[in-house]
Amino acid sequence: MADTEQIPLIDRHRAVLPSWLALYYQDPIEITRAEGRRVTDSTGTTYLDFFAGILTNAIGYDVPEISGAIRRQLDTGVLHTSTLYLIRQHVELAEKIAELSGIPDAKVFFTNSGTEANETALMLATQFRRSNQVLTLRNSYHGRAFGTVGITGNRGWSTSSLSPVKVSHVHGGYRYRSPFGHLPDADYVAACVEDLREVLLTTTSGDVACMIVEPIQGVGGFSSPPDGLFGAFKEVLDETGILLISDEVQTGWGRTGDHFWGISAHRVTPDVMTFAKGLGNGLAIGGVVARGDVMDCFTANSISTFGGNPLATAGAKAALDYLLDNDLQGNAAKMGARLSAGLHDIAAGNPVVGDVRGKGLMLAVELVEPGTREPDPAAAVTVLEQTRARGLLVGKGGLHNNVIRLAPPMTLTEDEVDEALDALGHAVAAVGEGE
Ligand SMILES: Cc1ncc(COP(=O)(O)O)c(C=O)c1O
Repeated sequence: MADTEQIPLIDRHRAVLPSWLALYYQDPIEITRAEGRRVTDSTGTTYLDFFAGILTNAIGYDVPEISGAIRRQLDTGVLHTSTLYLIRQHVELAEKIAELSGIPDAKVFFTNSGTEANETALMLATQFRRSNQVLTLRNSYHGRAFGTVGITGNRGWSTSSLSPVKVSHVHGGYRYRSPFGHLPDADYVAACVEDLREVLLTTTSGDVACMIVEPIQGVGGFSSPPDGLFGAFKEVLDETGILLISDEVQTGWGRTGDHFWGISAHRVTPDVMTFAKGLGNGLAIGGVVARGDVMDCFTANSISTFGGNPLATAGAKAALDYLLDNDLQGNAAKMGARLSAGLHDIAAGNPVVGDVRGKGLMLAVELVEPGTREPDPAAAVTVLEQTRARGLLVGKGGLHNNVIRLAPPMTLTEDEVDEALDALGHAVAAVGEGE
């Protein structure tokens, strides 16, 4: 044991964990403490966290209201009971989410992750419609299991070509590199709707189960269509009863600022929504909220042993209450506007920035070879390292791995926005200087 402890953690990580489990930074960080929007690593260095555990620490770290609810549950001695027994906070959380969803006669099923939520949604839709045909968007990501990998629209995350469903990909989610990207909003929407109609005619046998969309593509680099596209899609889907699933794993809980659910910007209520990440503020919880008739369509038993367990639902209920009581959606809108304005200023002075996009506190900067649209993934590595050196943690992503993703906790303050912009400005300038 003593010998093992002499070995650097990074070497032990690499020896025992999968090669495909990527770590950020040339010299990876071990986070050992956190408070507010700041994390501290094992060397004692503190960083402002603008990726928040991949949008999961939506409220921030060490929030007394949430920690208190978790501690109270621990004090009961009950960490787990299974859903074979009634769980009060499980029911209360489901009631709250059903109400917030806006879906008529909504019912909720809890899982432990976004992947499981989307697997459940796909199973519900395919059973309800008695069809194995699914529509999804190019550049999409919905999770890491067979159904969800099967519908992925991003080569970098397609770990298998096997799929339990037959998939057709449509245009729309990634406007910057879309063949319709040069069109004004209304024409872009019309072109994508036309493409959807053609995909239905040419790649399906007509009885499609569902379309699943991310209102803002997360892994895909915070890319999104103009508001209204998914409403226009729904009109086409409704002609033949195809269900619309909105994957709100990244866009839910007010993060986009203007709406509580990302899909609401498209003036449409989906039949099904999936969620995870931010709800638990770090606890493992996800789920599906769906029309009651869709949710109840299984005729066989189904269960998630841990899904909606007493600890996760106690913490998630406290997190959701905190989020609503403190209008974190409003704060995401305000701080997002300030951050977005600052990013546009940085972009104006630097041709390595090809695109600044996103909504609320889900903003991205796409890096390109100066003066072109050629993706520059090396520039994204530079920005990651340079921001870290200035005490800021950011995310990376996009189809070409050349997008910087910013998604801090929604409790962010003005001073923290300005601090991050200062670090980002220097980091982007360093790319221009070839560092
Ligand atoms: C939009 C979206 N859906 C689903 C998932 C899968 O969630 P999980 O990693 O919790 O399984 C992710 C994860 O990043 C995601 O971004």
